[in-house]
Amino acid sequence: VPGPTSLDMARGFLSIRADPLAFLGEVSQRYGDTVSFPVPGAPALLLNDPADVRHVLQTSARSWSKDTIQYAALARVTGPGLLASAEPNWIEHRRLAAPAFHHQRLEAVGDEVRAAARSAISARLGGCHAAAIADGAVVDVAELTHTIGLDAVGRALFSTDLSEHAQDLLTATSDSADLVVRLGRSILPRAEWTPTRTNLRLRSARRRLDAATAAIIAERRARNARAGGPGRTTHHGDDLLGLLLDSGMTDGEIRDELVTMVIAGHETVAAALAWTLMLLAENPQAQDRVRAELEAHPGPVPLVGHRESLPWTRAVVDEALRLFPPAWAISRRAHRDDELAGRHVPAGTLAIISPWLVHRRPDIWPEPEAFRPERFLDGTARTGYLPFGQGPRLCIGREFALGEMVLVLAELLREHRIDVPGGPDGWTRPAAETKVAVHPRGGMPLLVRRTGTP
Ligand code: HEM
Repeated sequence: VPGPTSLDMARGFLSIRADPLAFLGEVSQRYGDTVSFPVPGAPALLLNDPADVRHVLQTSARSWSKDTIQYAALARVTGPGLLASAEPNWIEHRRLAAPAFHHQRLEAVGDEVRAAARSAISARLGGCHAAAIADGAVVDVAELTHTIGLDAVGRALFSTDLSEHAQDLLTATSDSADLVVRLGRSILPRAEWTPTRTNLRLRSARRRLDAATAAIIAERRARNARAGGPGRTTHHGDDLLGLLLDSGMTDGEIRDELVTMVIAGHETVAAALAWTLMLLAENPQAQDRVRAELEAHPGPVPLVGHRESLPWTRAVVDEALRLFPPAWAISRRAHRDDELAGRHVPAGTLAIISPWLVHRRPDIWPEPEAFRPERFLDGTARTGYLPFGQGPRLCIGREFALGEMVLVLAELLREHRIDVPGGPDGWTRPAAETKVAVHPRGGMPLLVRRTGTP
């Protein structure tokens, strides 16, 4: 299999670390659909062909596990929660968590997500900022969407239980996302006990996460007891915390799932929304069409069912997730011999799949860099589109995330217009920075103006 040599890798080391997406893009342009990397030990392959991607993630998923550096780094913060865990305990945990993401439950959390959006919008664009926003002011919308993303996932997981401890869990988890990135990039594998700066920070983050979760669990148990015995709380319904408490999981396992959901569920949505707003600022006609669609549907937007009620807004979200898929790399390791496109693949092989690259294949997506929501208007599933992964490990939060994105766009764009500052000629997009999700480096400053004002 073709690919860069060890010398190429050594020469490009710093630039690969600084911008892995550009590096992956260059090697796939140069070497084609399957690229081999010269790493010690088992082979490492970058797979860009949708058939190979489907094979690894779906058809032959049982032969490939999450035993990779990417998920080992994540697990040091989340423990073996749903996202990082390898089978066999994954299936059981997925089954337990699933009802928190069922259609009915999502309908019920719509109000929570709306409250998260409204509170952040009014804090950042209303009140003392209202006069400036009426004239149009440059706002870092990435900061706004980060606040919404974190608050929304917290409210959804804990219902109305957003106590001080729940807030602490949210902020501590958000802070430790940066540690996951550092751990994933460290060159030398170091034992956890070595007193490196990252290890010390990790230890203190874990202590904070443990303390916050223990307090949240104790609080909910006390409330359950007051409400008349074990089982789900009556007024909180089956939110994730209620389900997990009912499930017979240990407190440690519950902690791992809560931290996992917060890590997986806030930065991804926040980054995706920031890029979506940028695309809508760059494409005023597409933005006007969103507003027209919203005007035709007065009243609160629900969290589910947008493909029918707001097809254009939903297509905007789908297309934004094609161009800026937050989960830029997905990794797997073969735990037994397999075959890819007729070629033998030995056990131990590492597969790297980048939705960012697959979504830019010109044979599937003509003019791949162009923002064209109409590609998604017919609503059919497509090959070569995997912002939420594929197969059995498909994102459990997919419907929640899509609903949240549409709902937040509705809350924001009903009363505001977003433009690129300095007009199209003076505008440069922020660079894409790979963290847990692909973020706009340095934030996303856009011109926000209340609609109806000159
Ligand atoms: C899994 C993307 C939002 C929780 C995944 C995977 C992807 C992904 C690509 C599969 C990873 C793999 O196969 O290795 C995204 C994107 C989101 C998003 C792009 C937002 C735009 C959320 C939300 C939650 C969540 C809101 C929860 C509140 C999870 C969990 C898994 C997962 C728990 C692991 C599922 C399993 O292995 O059973 N996500 N996600 N995600 N996601 Fe999301």
